Amino acid sequence: MKILGIDHLGIATESIDRAAPFWSAILGLPVAGRETIAEQKVTTAFLPVGESELELLEATDPDGAVAKFIAKRGAGLQHLALRVDDLDAALAELKAKGVRLIDEQPRRGAGGTRIAFLHPQSTNGVLLELTERP
Ligand code: CO
Repeated sequence: MKILGIDHLGIATESIDRAAPFWSAILGLPVAGRETIAEQKVTTAFLPVGESELELLEATDPDGAVAKFIAKRGAGLQHLALRVDDLDAALAELKAKGVRLIDEQPRRGAGGTRIAFLHPQSTNGVLLELTERP
């Protein structure tokens, strides 16, 4: 498995429209795109920062992971995404090493990426996403 870098940091917000101005108007980061991922019950907005990005997340359904996170812990940093060269190989390797996976198979992320989440039980409390860019 090859980790290529920090792909993005996921930040759970109550509202992207209310949260984005701090990052865009005050810090001056551009908002590169917004996308709703229906199957993940979330709308995302990406703000590039150097080689990485910030991913603002807003729940579209109270049943989704982001809504549950906010209900339990409030808005704020939700996950770390590391970029890998080959997600299928990475998941197979992690599974063989006994790492608990939330996603055994890659699923579709924003911007045409393939993503998979690892369970925080196996990562000392960090919700870790692996991202493969097209
Ligand atoms: Co993410």
